Amino acid sequence: MIKASVRAQAAYTLAAPPARRKLNQNESPFDFPAELKREVLERVAAQPWQRYPEFAPPELLARLAAHYGWVADGVLVGNGSNELIQSTLSVVLGAGDRVVAASPTFSLYRLLTAVLGGRYVPVPLDEGFAFDVDGLIEAARRESARVIVLNSPNNPTGSALPEGAVNRILSQTEALVICDEAYQDFGGPSAIPLLAGSSRLVVLRTFSKALGLAGLRFGLALAHPAVAREIAKGKLPYNVNLMTLAAARTALDHAPLLAARTREIVATRERVVARLPGVPGLTVYPTAANFVLIKSSRLPAKELCRRLLDDYGILIRDVSDSAPLAECVRISIGTAEDMDAVLDALRQILGKA
Ligand SMILES: Cc1ncc(COP(=O)(O)O)c(C=O)c1O
Repeated sequence: MIKASVRAQAAYTLAAPPARRKLNQNESPFDFPAELKREVLERVAAQPWQRYPEFAPPELLARLAAHYGWVADGVLVGNGSNELIQSTLSVVLGAGDRVVAASPTFSLYRLLTAVLGGRYVPVPLDEGFAFDVDGLIEAARRESARVIVLNSPNNPTGSALPEGAVNRILSQTEALVICDEAYQDFGGPSAIPLLAGSSRLVVLRTFSKALGLAGLRFGLALAHPAVAREIAKGKLPYNVNLMTLAAARTALDHAPLLAARTREIVATRERVVARLPGVPGLTVYPTAANFVLIKSSRLPAKELCRRLLDDYGILIRDVSDSAPLAECVRISIGTAEDMDAVLDALRQILGKA
């Protein structure tokens, strides 16, 4: 009884063996500070647990709007931004509708498009994994795309859209444009300033990466209020629980402290990216995110991942299964100490390969 389009897809799963240095899921290397965890727990303890949480607490929406520079009635909160990817696609896509996306990108878009009966149209990134903006526009027009997905900085390549690209895509196509900015805290332009001028734009953000709350699942969508109201119909009620709502408030209360950690991750990334080309047999791609994509020419990617894990306790992501990413691996930016260990291990493994 399962739709053929669904059976044809691989499930979204991840084998994550335990490792001393976990650099495979683009999480923050810094745990949420202990005193902030206590604050969250106190907030939650003071609330009645037998009651459902509020759908969309007005004061939280107002604070998110102020933080991101948008209007409160254009903000939707979700159980991770993944939930908002799903609800946005579900209220827009009908059978056979085309979704144009740069490729490779975050695999959930392809999977959910198939589940919803849409048709996924990948547009390859250019040489060096830069966005092919003209190619995206051309494909969207040719296919009469219903949706264009722009993930910038892009997972797993780290590439960011050039300044002005989203505006050009909005003005030269008729699709709903989803800008997934899960990694924008770490670099690249944001599409948020364009929201005031377009009702065909949805910007997704998450507290899972820079804000260090992946375990509590909090994401948001920013859109024209009339569009946000429609996307809300595709969301399950009560999916953002009391604990998550409390954690989101606490994260906003301490935004400057968390932003300092983001700056530290960016500084570590810059140091690593400057030193990686010194390792023999590696191509390093430009990144604006909290991860870096590298290609290994001396050792197959799978073997490199195995050696890093078995011999050095370093878990990175093997992304080499598709042709454009042949022999590529993605390394999340950890602490400065994690990254020194990564550089040492890579030099030892590849220096002898
Ligand atoms: C591009 C992109 N969007 C969304 C997500 C999911 O984020 P969340 O934890 O908010 O569901 C990820 C997670 O890896 C991602 O890479």
